[in-house]
Amino acid sequence: MRRKIALIGAGNIGGVLAEQIAYRRLGDVVLFDVVEGLPQGKALDIAEGAPLAGSDCRVTGTNAYQDIAGADLVIITAGLARKPGMSRDDLLAKNLEIMKSVAAGVKQHAPKAHVIVISNPLDAMVYTFKQISGFPKNRVVGMAGVLDSTRFRTFVAWELGVSVKDVTALVLGGHGDTMVPLPRYCSVAGIPITRLLSAEKIAEISTRTQNAGGEVVNLLKTGSAFVSPAHSAIEMAEAILLDEKRVLACACFLEGEYGVSGLYVGVPCVLGAGGVEKVFEIEMDAAERKLFDASIEHVRSLTAQIKL
Ligand code: APR
Repeated sequence: MRRKIALIGAGNIGGVLAEQIAYRRLGDVVLFDVVEGLPQGKALDIAEGAPLAGSDCRVTGTNAYQDIAGADLVIITAGLARKPGMSRDDLLAKNLEIMKSVAAGVKQHAPKAHVIVISNPLDAMVYTFKQISGFPKNRVVGMAGVLDSTRFRTFVAWELGVSVKDVTALVLGGHGDTMVPLPRYCSVAGIPITRLLSAEKIAEISTRTQNAGGEVVNLLKTGSAFVSPAHSAIEMAEAILLDEKRVLACACFLEGEYGVSGLYVGVPCVLGAGGVEKVFEIEMDAAERKLFDASIEHVRSLTAQIKL
């Protein structure tokens, strides 16, 4: 039997997710949104292209939570996206109310699902989902570090003129301006980038990575990045659905790791059929730890604003 993947939010990211999941034959897709016609229209469009992708996966759109029943995986993009001049944190009040209703719907209709949250501000939204749903921490994970790391990888590959495939990167902490790229843990085919690029160039790439979401928002003007976030979540979805045991930077609920408890923070973890199966605690030097602590404090103050 094919897997069932429910997508909550049929906007820009939801649309790319539906297409990629169906055309990669990861499972049947149910696209949910509160706007009537939007998920149905996107689903029909994708379904009609499926023969070209050689996919028999079903794609349907709905405005009823009952239709997500039995989902193995739920990916949440419901909520407002940024416009120029806004930070991710500016979305908190509106998206908090949306996330509360989504968590209640998923809890009722897909209580056994794994959940990937994409809605921003990410660390606060994934926390809200976990608190409202009561799902165990291994089944609720946030997409942030994969996207931040892929942006860093892109910039390094451009700078060195090498394949993006050979660049690995690690960006931890909160998914905001305080995120922490860790150049010491980035490499090109195993060669630390600190041996290939100057400190100034690495600092430039780190800053561009931290502001990369805003750079896209300022160009698009009407919304935020949606292709790279969708593909980042697909990487996580594949890890869970195919039990790949990928080591990816994800927003995980910490209970003592890195000296943090009760918060979602971006850390390296093992993603497989059990969801977040393990968190890796890596060594940081004093400067890296200072940036990581500042990022945690930012996440803590954002999370403290959540009234459930
Ligand atoms: N339940 C389900 N869907 C909802 C709800 C809700 N309560 N409220 C809003 N939505 C839907 C909207 O109707 C819209 O179709 O969420 C969708 C969001 O789509 P876009 O506005 O296109 O936003 P997108 O670019 O997909 O980003 C979604 O992910 O990266 C984050 O910051 C981004 O928070 C934003 C989210």
